[in-house]
Amino acid sequence: MNNQIVTMRFLRITTLFALLALSASATFADVAEGEKLFNANCTSCHALNEKVVGPALKGVNEKYDEAWLLKWIKNSQALVKSGDAKAVKVYNEYNQSVMTS
Ligand code: HEC
Repeated sequence: MNNQIVTMRFLRITTLFALLALSASATFADVAEGEKLFNANCTSCHALNEKVVGPALKGVNEKYDEAWLLKWIKNSQALVKSGDAKAVKVYNEYNQSVMTS
């Protein structure tokens, strides 16, 4: 199965986990991999349903498009510095705390 089909399938299941897997490795794009990455790298600051250090991430795939999320997760500061309106807004909302990942 090519990666695009795999990606589309997982997007329907859980966009965020699939995106994570995708941003880490296009070859191992699957939800389990994404969930592992999420637990390892994101849960210190994020939960799906409540605010922790960063925003609750449930529904985040409806708020932003896939390309934006990929860029954000890879390098949120680059996106903020590029002047991207959505990135600057959420960065300011969270008192300009830097999201490391
Ligand atoms: C050190 C804490 C920290 C870690 C680790 C972290 N984040 Fe964040 N995240 C934040 C903060 C704080 C924000 C709010 C924006 C800002 O201040 O940069 C944010 C914002 C976001 C947003 C935008 C949410 C919205 O509603 O606008 C997404 C999506 C996101 N993070 C995904 C992730 C993912 C996926 C990971 C793991 C790969 C991750 N974050 C790891 C702190 C973190």
